[in-house]
Amino acid sequence: MQTPIAPDIVRNEIKKSGLASVGLSSIREINRLVLNIEASSGVSFIRMEMGVPGMPPPKIAVDAEIEALKRGVGSKYPPFDGIPELKTEISRFIQLFLNLSIDGESCFPTVGSMQGCYMAMMMAGRRLAGKDKILFIDPGFPVNKRQASAIGIGYESFDVYEYRGEKLRKKIEGYLKAGDIGALLYSNPNNPSWICFTESELKIIGELCREYDIIPLEDLAYFGMDFRKDYSKPGVEPYIPTVGNYTDKYILLISSSKSFSLAGQRIGMTAVSDALFNSTGNNLERYFGTNKFGYAYIFGAVYALSSGVSHTNQYGLAALLKAVNDGDYNFVNSVKEYGERAEIMKELFTSNGFSIVYDMDEDQPLADGFYFTVSYPGFSGVELIEELLYYGISAISLSTTGSDHHEGIRACVSLTGKERFDELEKRLIAFDMDHKEGFRAMSAE
Ligand SMILES: Cc1ncc(COP(=O)(O)O)c(C=O)c1O
Repeated sequence: MQTPIAPDIVRNEIKKSGLASVGLSSIREINRLVLNIEASSGVSFIRMEMGVPGMPPPKIAVDAEIEALKRGVGSKYPPFDGIPELKTEISRFIQLFLNLSIDGESCFPTVGSMQGCYMAMMMAGRRLAGKDKILFIDPGFPVNKRQASAIGIGYESFDVYEYRGEKLRKKIEGYLKAGDIGALLYSNPNNPSWICFTESELKIIGELCREYDIIPLEDLAYFGMDFRKDYSKPGVEPYIPTVGNYTDKYILLISSSKSFSLAGQRIGMTAVSDALFNSTGNNLERYFGTNKFGYAYIFGAVYALSSGVSHTNQYGLAALLKAVNDGDYNFVNSVKEYGERAEIMKELFTSNGFSIVYDMDEDQPLADGFYFTVSYPGFSGVELIEELLYYGISAISLSTTGSDHHEGIRACVSLTGKERFDELEKRLIAFDMDHKEGFRAMSAE
């Protein structure tokens, strides 16, 4: 059977990679393997393993950063907690798009929201004595668990698939009752499944956090990218749903990587609600020299980790946010194409024997966005990852993301432009034809 990529090339590269299980490998490992197969075969893959933005960075940010560099700000240390104009614009951004009021003092840049998550776990997991675990609402971004382990914080996790709607309350409460959870973390829209919590689910999370004195760490890495509603207009409804409407102590983590196509700049935003920023925690002093939460965050965590974010970069983001906040730059329109691609790509998969794994937000079909999840009958996700390599398609297995739906894989749309859809379709047709008949390239000799 001739697959789109010669089977012996794929097998040989897998062997050379030394990976114990291709399907269980990390995103970066799969990425390396695919590059090697592409080099040996001369066939270019449909690359869906990595969540990298596929759009150019906004000119406003680029120009403002160049201008700052030319002015010489690069020779000076930036304030740890951000240049004043950036703090002001982050606070405005949160007011205009989430309808939450957070003082600029408690809004600051981080080295990607990756570092923001790290710091937030560090703070929220050490705030109160005995409440030193994080609850991850999975599926999730695997590196967050690595971060918890790296700072010695324990965690619990569960796959939310079976616990949407009111069922979520009992499930989360079961963990909180143990008394040792200090914070819970989820991404919304979710990486990898692209589920978006509904208003009623966010209300449940917020109410429970308030009742049990837990800090929700709301990871808004895909800010405004639930394209079912138009969240692009500053200061008008609909506002982006957030847990901040239902509890007063929370931390928001906002990435500029996907929504603003600035992944390479490594600049994200953290906003700590005023009530939390101005509160105290009885367990902070031994780590950060003070029990005052906000002070410990800035002069303990930010100072110790990176002492702020590159100075020029902050000017780039501040200028972009100002344009977004003033209504001069529509960031949602610039990334809407991901949703258009997802709609077509999902259709290509489902008309060739695949099914969508995470498919509903309570009673509403899932949005089309940056990621989607699929399965194929008779294959676990781990097996599917390996088998698809012979067809020139790369993705990651859901089992690496805390999902209990091990038969599935996550596909990212960002690197597949519309010009590649015909090729994707041909490869999926070939895959379906072969596998309906029970063929398996990975075990065929
Ligand atoms: C859920 C989630 N959180 C955080 C991040 C990291 O974002 P940043 O590039 O701002 O560090 C990502 C990036 O893929 C993500 O998917």
